[in-house]
Amino acid sequence: MTLATVLEDIRKRPGTGETIPIFNPSIGEQIGEFTDGGKAAVDEAVARARETFKSGVWHGKSSSERSKILWRIAELIEEHAEELAELDSRNGGASLTQCRHIMHASAEFYRYCAGWCTKINGISHDIRMAGGLSGTFTEMHGYTIKQPIGVVGLIIPWNGPFHMSSIKLAPALAAGCSAVLKPAEQTPLSMMILEKILVKAGVPEGVVNIVYGYGHTTGQALAEHPDVDKISFTGSTVTGKKIVQAAAGNLKRVMLELGGKSPVLIYNDADLSKAIPGAAMGIFAHSGQGCICGSRIFVERGVYDQVVEGVAGVARSIRQGGSHEEGVHIGPVISQKQLEKIMGYIDEGRQEGAEIVAGGKRRDRAGYFVEPTVLTGTRPDMRLVQEEIFGPVVTIAPFDDEEEVLAQANDSIYGLAASAWTNDLSRAHRLAKRMEAGMITLNCQLVWDPALPIGGHKQSGWGYEYGIEGIEAYMTTKCVYTQL
Ligand code: NAI
Ligand code: MG
Repeated sequence: MTLATVLEDIRKRPGTGETIPIFNPSIGEQIGEFTDGGKAAVDEAVARARETFKSGVWHGKSSSERSKILWRIAELIEEHAEELAELDSRNGGASLTQCRHIMHASAEFYRYCAGWCTKINGISHDIRMAGGLSGTFTEMHGYTIKQPIGVVGLIIPWNGPFHMSSIKLAPALAAGCSAVLKPAEQTPLSMMILEKILVKAGVPEGVVNIVYGYGHTTGQALAEHPDVDKISFTGSTVTGKKIVQAAAGNLKRVMLELGGKSPVLIYNDADLSKAIPGAAMGIFAHSGQGCICGSRIFVERGVYDQVVEGVAGVARSIRQGGSHEEGVHIGPVISQKQLEKIMGYIDEGRQEGAEIVAGGKRRDRAGYFVEPTVLTGTRPDMRLVQEEIFGPVVTIAPFDDEEEVLAQANDSIYGLAASAWTNDLSRAHRLAKRMEAGMITLNCQLVWDPALPIGGHKQSGWGYEYGIEGIEAYMTTKCVYTQL
């Protein structure tokens, strides 16, 4: 399907009537529109999902059959990678090359989850239970059963449209759940292809239902819905808290993957030829629109000037451009609103006395481009240092000792990722224990693998994605006792 046919298709979807514009952030122009699905679309989607869960048309299949279908989805993602990358890059702003690459990562993630379908098992346990005051014992056999949790609502953000859907849908399907998925209102387009891939792969109709619309209407209706058993959400901490409240009505389970303000520690003994580009791209990649981006760099005094100059040098040399321009490293931010928000943080920092060493301006061209920006001379209490900016903006501060830098690194409501660059092996592992985050990267940044669970500490989230933990997030455990 071409961009034009997808835009035509989505425009015709029924909804509540409120129109939502679709933009291309590389040019800052509206390219299409669709109608907010609202509560009615959610009610219908949840009912369809529930019907399939009751009938067992998905979770009742043999695990090997489900595995084959997930594997088939992976193959179809690769077959359609070019179309998917085209839509995600036009709609989300990342370069076509990067989007192609991420489609293969999505396919690999489905393959990883396909492998788990046939390996979901409970445990068995032999029990000798004391019979109370009588002093007798009863021989028992106990075991656990792992079952899909039911109908799950998957609410995803705009910073990796197709990939974010894979991260939630693949484990939900592997676990045997039926699902209602809501893409972000900014980036619905590649979901139109996902719908077709799921049908082609053999996922029975109604098992996965995609609803399109705003967060405060369609998303809220899904989070509140009394017949949804779990919500899995990725996005802002503010919205995460609203979801928790909305979920209280039926005490549905909630998994949250939220914001971050991840610290990066660079020591005198680090290999700066790796640490400088690593830390620079650890924030500037995807224009800082990644939850695990390292937005606060702390540098040991002896190499501070060198690191500031090095990161600023990368900031100045990065090729920033539209998704379809040649040789581009990073693209625009998603929207005018995000651009204004990011510029607000930079301007406030400047007014409060921070020094802008690189960048600091909106690019003088069409589209939502913020220059990769490096700030120094910040204070720990500045909003710039405390809040998630979600743009290509990094602060760099010097430190002299480990206790001092750990206190600053951990001085955050967030705890998603934390990194250290050092050649002292013991120090690296000591920091891994003491940095308050769910994901630690040592002498590397922006890495992930389907097998390793990621879960935010503190206000960065609840629960895990990836790994067996990520599959179990969509399951319940039942225990069974039998008297022998
Ligand atoms: P958001 O968290 O409001 O939106 C994410 C998803 O939640 C979208 O699908 C949206 O429609 C939905 N949503 C919004 N309000 C909802 C509600 N009341 N009930 C149910 N669903 C709802 O993020 P937004 O407003 O697009 O971006 C604001 C900030 O959020 C960014 O500047 C960034 O700091 C953070 N963010 C973090 C992400 C991450 O990967 N951790 C991804 C996107 C945004
Ligand atoms: Mg929001």
